[in-house]
Amino acid sequence: MHFDDAKNEMLQILRRTESRDLAKLIDWLKHSGDIDDFLVDNQRAILHSIAEDLRSCLPVDAVFPSETLAIQKTQKNPNPTVHVDAFLYDEDTVDSLCEEGKMSRNYCVSCGSHRTAPLEFISHSFSIPELQFLFYHVLPDLTGKLVVDVGSRLGTVLYGGFLYSAAAQLVGVEINEEFVKLQTMTVEKYGFSDRVQVIHANICSQAALVQNSDVLIMNNVFEYFIEPKDQVRAWQFISQNFRKKGALLVTVPSIQESLMSLQETSAASTIGYWLQEVSLNYSAYLQGDADPDSIKQIHLYMVL
Ligand SMILES: C[S@@+](CC[C@H](N)C(=O)[O-])C[C@H]1O[C@@H](n2cnc3c(N)ncnc32)[C@H](O)[C@@H]1O
Repeated sequence: MHFDDAKNEMLQILRRTESRDLAKLIDWLKHSGDIDDFLVDNQRAILHSIAEDLRSCLPVDAVFPSETLAIQKTQKNPNPTVHVDAFLYDEDTVDSLCEEGKMSRNYCVSCGSHRTAPLEFISHSFSIPELQFLFYHVLPDLTGKLVVDVGSRLGTVLYGGFLYSAAAQLVGVEINEEFVKLQTMTVEKYGFSDRVQVIHANICSQAALVQNSDVLIMNNVFEYFIEPKDQVRAWQFISQNFRKKGALLVTVPSIQESLMSLQETSAASTIGYWLQEVSLNYSAYLQGDADPDSIKQIHLYMVL
């Protein structure tokens, strides 16, 4: 509903309210915490608007049919799992879609019965509260810095970085052309192009960019999207090229966890002299609406 319609409906409700309750209703509108929940900060409102635009361009699971590896990997998960993108669908949006029957949090354990069990959700993007945590609590002041998001997908890190930081340049590198088109469209529509750039490429072809970057973001980049042998090569490429002293690397999950799943012990042992983990204050996540388990998956390292 747009502003004029919403305003008219509000006025009609006020006109229809019993006169003895009108002052109480107006007082509630002016002062209630229920209303405060709607007064999100301006940056958040822009991010919500981007999410709404992107939802209308994507299937509900926000996975393109061309992403066969991600689809197969999810199907192999021992627990029934669905893709629910945390940037596109916050808890309230998931609740509304469940009410409309377009999404479900549960699956039926024996067909036809009422016995159900919770589905596992996988997100391939940071949520808005995670972006706030990243730019307000994980990273320092980014004035003048070059930030590179490896595998930028919907572009959440680029938009969050534009709105929540003073980074000079935010560059997204994405291997999937369909997602590059979506990001380019969003960057142009919201006027982010003076500080944001999207490159359609495999990160392994971007040596100069990685060598020059001050901050590299790697949110679950490879596991669902490229074969294990290519993941090993990509990690080797990162460790050889991301060497600027003092530069920061953000990963989800920890590097150890990513490499352990590849049984890449030789690469894991090189981390000792290449990077140092910086401890984070996870209790600082904002406004209590971030999922604490996802927040704890965020790790920060500094190049030695
Ligand atoms: C989990 S998503 C990350 C989303 C985004 N960075 C965020 O935090 O919201 C990982 C993305 O990395 C991309 N990707 C995987 N391997 C890549 C590579 N070698 N080079 C560039 N992009 C890659 C995938 O296509 C996918 O869109």
